[in-house]
Amino acid sequence: MFKLLVLSCLLALALPSLAEVGWWKTGQFYQIYPRSFKDSDGDGVGDLIGITQQLPYLKEIGITATWLSPIFTSPMADFGYDVADLKGIDPIFGTMEDFEALLARAKELDIKIILDFVPNHTSDECDWFIRSAAGEEEYKDFYVWHTGKVVNGIRQPPTNWLSVFRGSMWTWNEQRQAYYLHQFHAKQPDLNYRNPKVVEAMKDVLRFWLRKGAYGFRIDAVPHVYEIPADADGNWPDEPRNEDVSDPEDYTYLQHIYTTDQPETLELVYAFRDVIEEIDAELGGDDRVLLTEAYSPLDVLMQYYGNGTHLGSQIPFNFELLAKISYSSDAYHYSELIHNWLDNMPEGQVANWVFGNHDQSRIGSRLGADRIDACNMIVMGLPGVSVTYQGEEMGMTDVWISWEDTVDPQACQSNEQEFERLTRDPVRTPFQWSDEVNAGFSNASVTWLPVASNYKLVNVKKERGIALSHLNVYKQLRALRDEPTLKQGDVSVTAIGPNVLAFKRSLTGYKSYITLININDDVESIDLDSVFTSISTQLQYVVVNDKSVRRKNDLTFANSVLLLPKEAVVLSTV
Ligand code: GLC
Ligand code: MG
Repeated sequence: MFKLLVLSCLLALALPSLAEVGWWKTGQFYQIYPRSFKDSDGDGVGDLIGITQQLPYLKEIGITATWLSPIFTSPMADFGYDVADLKGIDPIFGTMEDFEALLARAKELDIKIILDFVPNHTSDECDWFIRSAAGEEEYKDFYVWHTGKVVNGIRQPPTNWLSVFRGSMWTWNEQRQAYYLHQFHAKQPDLNYRNPKVVEAMKDVLRFWLRKGAYGFRIDAVPHVYEIPADADGNWPDEPRNEDVSDPEDYTYLQHIYTTDQPETLELVYAFRDVIEEIDAELGGDDRVLLTEAYSPLDVLMQYYGNGTHLGSQIPFNFELLAKISYSSDAYHYSELIHNWLDNMPEGQVANWVFGNHDQSRIGSRLGADRIDACNMIVMGLPGVSVTYQGEEMGMTDVWISWEDTVDPQACQSNEQEFERLTRDPVRTPFQWSDEVNAGFSNASVTWLPVASNYKLVNVKKERGIALSHLNVYKQLRALRDEPTLKQGDVSVTAIGPNVLAFKRSLTGYKSYITLININDDVESIDLDSVFTSISTQLQYVVVNDKSVRRKNDLTFANSVLLLPKEAVVLSTV
């Protein structure tokens, strides 16, 4: 008894306490796309009551915090990323009471709720825009307006800038007799952050939701928030062309040097973080967090964390793997991308790992269904925050949707030839709960997007019962994250030839864990003694995927680990 006590005291001394570590620093984050998670009222669209009902599932898979794509009042031109009332809940998702009930249930289960904050734009149906278009003094400069230029007697937009969703970034407004800027859809007018009133109004929105009980925000489309300042005459420069793109309406036709990643963007992230700190001080409790969405160059992303004087986003999404790994990437490429983040991250910051979201093709479709467990091992085995997009834990794949049935504005604004490259509908289909009607997502006769045809094979209920299903592998990986080595240990990442990615987590006084992933279809024999230092002669299998003939607790010699095609395993020292 005494010995045990001494031992636990020693352990307590050796490890910083969890409060010190910060709840989010080893957190398991999960993205819910509310329209497609669970429909409680049978209208074919997911809702807040549905999420609340299914929160125990998040607990089952060990989620610490979940970020919800927008649930705010919206005409749904971009499925909620066009917000009309920044402090209201859209009726399709429920009521404010439903949201409060969700918060209360999440609190009981110790799951943090993170909201999606869309700073770049509002809906054109937002009261601010309506007043701005009407020229009301208080709101007239809330958006970016310009009367355009007249060439040969014809009025034209002020610049050649293109919207992410195709065509000009400028749309004419009859009432105001001016063009307004929209980096995305014409129904998503950009707010004017050069107006301090806008900054204050948006900070106020953050405070509102934090005081209600949200634990932070995923901030949308951050690099688009500022455009280059206008010159003394109030004009902006055109953007240069990308010579290899020939479609003049496509976003990639131009290099977005004046409309993305402007230096003021970082200042704004720091200002939003100040609000987080302010509310932490006001309300107490654990740290509230910012997750920022930016597909920006690495040196810019590293500044999102903060600079010498300002704190920034704790979790600037790391899209290295998501955006750059392709079907044919070799192990060197995986290793390089992982190192890109680890080696460039400022001292004292925490890494995060992301392989999917509601805008990108799913892992199983992009990289192959036999690499799903491998990707989950990477996201959950590396140090820091892991982020899972709903469905990736059970290996949902993209659902092909015809041009006629396509609803994503990014695709609908293109044409029948181009839409498959642009559409995000395939990754947003209903969550597959069971083999019941509509995969247990809804009892409506029609769901807003079709349910995947493979739902009888790929669903939570079925996978619970299969020992090495993606879901069960995921749960085992999640359980491992509670080990001190995974929480606080060092990491060493390397490629062993072109086919095998390996990383080792180690912490003095604890077992080391080695993840080995055979990316391809050759049988590989690995001598780990020549790769990592300080490993035991024998190693034990801790997690295996269904490509393995090994079982949990099997032993192998470290100098001859055999890896079958696409086998992915976690081993521990003994
Ligand atoms: C972000 C969102 C995307 C949305 C866009 C405009 O990239 O992830 O879904 O369409 O911003 O708000
Ligand atoms: Mg519903």
